[in-house]
Amino acid sequence: MPAVKTTTGDRAPPGVIALDIYGTVIDPAAIVIHLSNAFDTRAQLAAQLWRERQLEFTFRRALMRKYADFDLCTAQALTQVSAQLGVKLGEDDKRALLDAYLRLPAFPDVKLGLERLKASGYRIIALTNGTEKSVRALLQHAGISEYFEMIVSADAIKTFKPDPAVYQLVQRAGDTPKQNVWLVSGNPFDIIGAKAYGLKAAWVRRDPSRVFDPWEFSPDEVVQNLQELCAALQRK
Ligand code: LAC
Repeated sequence: MPAVKTTTGDRAPPGVIALDIYGTVIDPAAIVIHLSNAFDTRAQLAAQLWRERQLEFTFRRALMRKYADFDLCTAQALTQVSAQLGVKLGEDDKRALLDAYLRLPAFPDVKLGLERLKASGYRIIALTNGTEKSVRALLQHAGISEYFEMIVSADAIKTFKPDPAVYQLVQRAGDTPKQNVWLVSGNPFDIIGAKAYGLKAAWVRRDPSRVFDPWEFSPDEVVQNLQELCAALQRK
């Protein structure tokens, strides 16, 4: 029998959560413990610079249409940060750090948040600039891969968020209108990208000191973590 369409009075299905990975689900700052051997008191600074360079490289590569995948951007960013801070890393040290990047932990609220979102009927899709292979490894290591219907990676179209083509990719993968897709991200550039494309967007403000970019796009919801997100969406 064909599926019955919802009629007046029925609640529409909750829709799709397109969930960013690095900085939203998985904590890139947790790499600091692995940096402390080589960078000592500057490990925190190295972690911050590494993430900043990694993102900058992806933005520039997308703009220049000189694609190299997220794993290579991450490796090149590490090479730059070690040179910038004057810390010599051998090939083995670099490999060990990049391996550790595949075993970064999830933020503590993530598992329960995903469980609640799923129980509320949301379809959860990873939408990431990361490669599918690395993101799969991360989600498996964190014990949360079962919550994701699929991983949609910008790598499939050789560009990076916030290129609108990536938000279109997840909308098509979800096979649903724009207004049924919530992009959920800890990264303001990602929220702005999703809003500019026409999705709904929730900013997970992982860092309470972070100020949102004063552009003409703002998030529909601002929450501290995924459990709060679930409560906020239920109020809608
Ligand atoms: C991602 C990075 C950009 O997971 O945070 O897409």
